[in-house]
Amino acid sequence: MKERVLVLGADGMVGRSWVDLLRAEGVAHDAWNRQQFELGNPDSLQRLSEQASWGLVVNCGAYTQVDKAESDRATADQINGTAVGELAACVQSQGARLIHYSTDYVFNGKATSPYPVDAPIEPVNAYGASKALGEQLLQQSGVRALLIRTSWVYAPWGKNFVLTMARLMREKPELRVIADQRGRPTSAQQLAARSWALAQVCDTGTFHLTDSGECTWHKFATAIRDELGLSTPIAAIPTSEYPTPAARPAYSVLDLSAADARIGPAVHWRSSLASVLTQAGLR
Ligand SMILES: NC(=O)c1ccc[n+]([C@@H]2O[C@H](COP(=O)([O-])OP(=O)(O)OC[C@H]3O[C@@H](n4cnc5c(N)ncnc54)[C@H](OP(=O)(O)O)[C@@H]3O)[C@@H](O)[C@H]2O)c1
Repeated sequence: MKERVLVLGADGMVGRSWVDLLRAEGVAHDAWNRQQFELGNPDSLQRLSEQASWGLVVNCGAYTQVDKAESDRATADQINGTAVGELAACVQSQGARLIHYSTDYVFNGKATSPYPVDAPIEPVNAYGASKALGEQLLQQSGVRALLIRTSWVYAPWGKNFVLTMARLMREKPELRVIADQRGRPTSAQQLAARSWALAQVCDTGTFHLTDSGECTWHKFATAIRDELGLSTPIAAIPTSEYPTPAARPAYSVLDLSAADARIGPAVHWRSSLASVLTQAGLR
């Protein structure tokens, strides 16, 4: 693919991974952070319309504060929903293609086997509902798009579970981590690389991209501790002992078979974890 790429939300975990990837691959691109392109801001959209020099627009910007969304539903809906519809219409009018990210939290968490891409949408929290609205408006826009759902994202930078746990394990004598929510941790770098690979072989469609394997938050935390060579005790607790404003799906393992069939199997989350901890200078 020779077209110029525009990355929006370029300062986030996934956005930064995209920019690193495109630079490493020698792909012509522009990277706009929130200051340069604000989802929901008409001036930003106008600027994108005027320049219109991209074949592929990758939207990594989003309202990602899951708990805050419960008391700020209108803003979450505006950024993750309405603004995504407007962006999609703008990209469509330019004849360009869009990659947009959604979440495992659009599902209800009651399944006992991985969610296929066409599983019914039934979010259990405001963030999930706002992302579901974005999916719907994107599809209604008619834009050529890859809609990619992912889960439990982390990177060597940004605010994420891995870096938070690594810090807390050194600060606290003991940790308590939820053991009854199950999902698939995903390296933002793997996500960007596999999204790019998918974009080479698929024009449009809905896909799930995560690292392979699955675990609970407790098992994830234990793996982080073991990779760091620490011995901090980590108690396994039920969700009921760690109440949060937003409900979380108990089971949000995404079925990866559609993407695997096109670009091969994903790496296991344990190997991504080791790589990210090394890059973060933590081991
Ligand atoms: N993180 C996860 O576990 C996870 C799981 C499933 C799906 N996803 C999806 O993956 C995508 C990438 O998220 P991420 O993990 O990279 O999260 P992230 O690190 O929080 O990055 C999100 C970026 O969006 C920016 N942003 C917020 N409001 C914006 C607005 N109105 N206009 C433009 N940019 C705005 C943020 O800027 P500020 O920091 O300045 O606000 C931040 O740079 C999102 O669509 C997210 O919903 C993430």
